[in-house]
Amino acid sequence: MCAPGPTIVAAAGITAGQRVLDVAAGAGNASIPAAEAGASVVASDLTPELLDVGRATAAARGVALEWVKADAEALPFNDNEFDTVISVVGAMFAPHHQQTANEMLRVCKPGGTIAMINWTPEGLIGQLFATMRPYAPPPPPGTQPPPLWGNESHVRELFGDGITAATFERRTIASPPQITTPVEFREFFKTNYGPTIAVYNAVAARPDARAALDRDFKRFLTQTDARIPDTPTARWAMEYLLFTARKA
Ligand SMILES: C[S@@+](CC[C@H](N)C(=O)[O-])C[C@H]1O[C@@H](n2cnc3c(N)ncnc32)[C@H](O)[C@@H]1O
Repeated sequence: MCAPGPTIVAAAGITAGQRVLDVAAGAGNASIPAAEAGASVVASDLTPELLDVGRATAAARGVALEWVKADAEALPFNDNEFDTVISVVGAMFAPHHQQTANEMLRVCKPGGTIAMINWTPEGLIGQLFATMRPYAPPPPPGTQPPPLWGNESHVRELFGDGITAATFERRTIASPPQITTPVEFREFFKTNYGPTIAVYNAVAARPDARAALDRDFKRFLTQTDARIPDTPTARWAMEYLLFTARKA
C-alpha cells in the first residue's frame, strides 16, 4: 500500500542537480519520480528484491539511479552527503525510531531538506495495525509501533533541535479503484501488504485465530468503508502525515 511518490518530490522541492536519498525506497515509488525530475538519486532499502523491481522499472522508464541495500537505522552514507532525504511510508517501519531519525539527519547536509510521508495512527492503515495487534507476536523490547511516525509531536521530538521550519499536513489518498468490497480489500492486504502477510503467517498454525482475524479485519473494513451512499462500490480514505523540514 503506497502513498503517491510524486507528492513527496513536489513537497520536498526536488529539482535537477540535487543529490537525493530515498530511505526504505522499496521499488522506487518516490525515487523514480525524483530521478525523473533530474535529481541524482540513491534508492536504499532493506529488501534487495524490491530494489531489483525498481531497477527494472527505472530502466524501462529510461532513468538511472543508484540502488543500495541499507538498513534505515545504519545508513552506509557519509555525514552531510545529501541535499534532500525522503521516505514514503518506509522509514516508519524501522523498529527504533530515534536511531532512524538520527541517521536521516546525519546524512542530510545542513540547510538540506528532510521530507516524509507516514501513515497516521488514526487513519485507515494506523487503525489496521490496531486491528491486527492482538494477533501479532509481541514486539521486541525497545521497539516502537510504525504509525507513531504519523503523529506530529512524536516526529518533532525525534528530530528535536536538529531541524527548523517544520511543516506538517494531514492528507488522504483513496484506496485502489479496482477494489470494490471489504472482503476484496482484506484479501488484497493479505496478498500484497508485508505487515498483514506477517501477522497472518504468525497465526497460520491456529485456525481459530486465523478465522477471528479474518472476521475482525472484515468488520473493520466494513465500518470504515466511506462509499458514497447508494453506490455499489466501496471506497476507503487512507490518511497520512506529510512532514517537511530543513536540517538546522
Ligand atoms: C510499504 S513499503 C514502502 C516502500 C516505498 N517507500 C514506497 O513508497 O513504495 C515499506 C518499505 O520499508 C522497507 N523497510 C522496512 N524496514 C526497513 C529498514 N529497517 N531499513 C530499510 N528499509 C526498511 C521495506 O523493505 C519496504 O520496502
